[in-house]
Amino acid sequence: MILLDGKKTSADIKDEIAIEVSKLKEQGKKTPHLAAILVGDDGASRTYVNAKVKACEKVGFASTLVKLNATISEAELLAEIEALNINDDVDGFIVQLPLPKHIDEQKVLMAVSPNKDVDGFHPENVGKMTLNLPTFLPATPAGILELLERYEIETSGKNVVVIGRSHIVGSPMSILMAQKRTVGNATVTLTHSRTKDLESITKEADIIVVALGVAEFLKGDMVKDGVVIIDVGITRVDDSSKKSGFRLLGDVHFESVAPKASYITPVPGGVGPMTIAMLMKNTLLARAQNEA
Ligand code: GUN
Repeated sequence: MILLDGKKTSADIKDEIAIEVSKLKEQGKKTPHLAAILVGDDGASRTYVNAKVKACEKVGFASTLVKLNATISEAELLAEIEALNINDDVDGFIVQLPLPKHIDEQKVLMAVSPNKDVDGFHPENVGKMTLNLPTFLPATPAGILELLERYEIETSGKNVVVIGRSHIVGSPMSILMAQKRTVGNATVTLTHSRTKDLESITKEADIIVVALGVAEFLKGDMVKDGVVIIDVGITRVDDSSKKSGFRLLGDVHFESVAPKASYITPVPGGVGPMTIAMLMKNTLLARAQNEA
C-alpha cells in the first residue's frame, strides 16, 4: 500500500508556482491576486479560507480576505461580489461555501464574473468543463487528477466509482474522469444515496473516489484487493485528547480499507492540500488570461 501524499505533492506544486511568480515579478509584471469571501464564522470554513490565504503568501500572491457577518443580506453579498468583479487588481476570487441558509447559493455563484471564477463554479465554466473546453477546473477534482497523474496511476479503461454527486466534487469528478484527457478515459459509475446495492458496485471498482461527507463510510469488505482509494471526506469529531478538541475523519474506514488498497489518500494530508494547490494554479491562470 502506497500513501498518496497530498501534502508533499501540493508543496511541490506550490514551489513550481512560486518560481512562476518570481519570473513575473522579475519581468515587472503584476503580482497575481486572489480574494476570498467568507460569510459567517463556521470553524471549518474559517480554517479552509485561512489555509488558502496562507498558500497565497507561500507562492508570492497578493491576497484579500473579505469577512462578512452571517446576517448579511443576499443583496449586500451580491454587492460585495460585484465590487470584486470590477476591481482590476483582483485576478480571481472565491466565495467560500456553504453559505447561510437565507442566501441563494446558486444566485451568488452566478454573480461571480466567469473570468474571475477560480473555483470553476459558474454555470458558464461548468459548461465549458463538461465540453472539455479550456476553463477553470473545480479545485478538488482537479487536485485528484493531478495526484493520480503525478503518481502515474493508470485510469484509461479502468472502472472508476464515484460516491456522492455534489456540484463541487462528485459530479465534476465523474465528468472529468470519463473525458478524453491525460488522466481520464475511465468507465465511470456515479453513485449516490438512491443507488441500490452500492457494495456490489464498489467491489468491482479499480478506483474509488469517496465524497459523501459521512465519516468512515467505505469499509474494507466493500472493496477489492489492489483498489486505488481517493478519500475526499473531512468530518470533525470531538476528541478531548486533541488541543483543538476534535480530530478529522475521512469517508473511508482507513484501518480496514488501507490493507487492501494499492494506493490510498490519508485524511488529513491527502486531497485537502491538493485542492488549495489547484486554487493557486487557477489564480495563476486567471492572471495570465488578464494579461493576454
Ligand atoms: N467549500 C468546500 N469546498 C469548497 C471549494 O472548493 N470552494 C469553495 N468556495 N467552498 C468550498
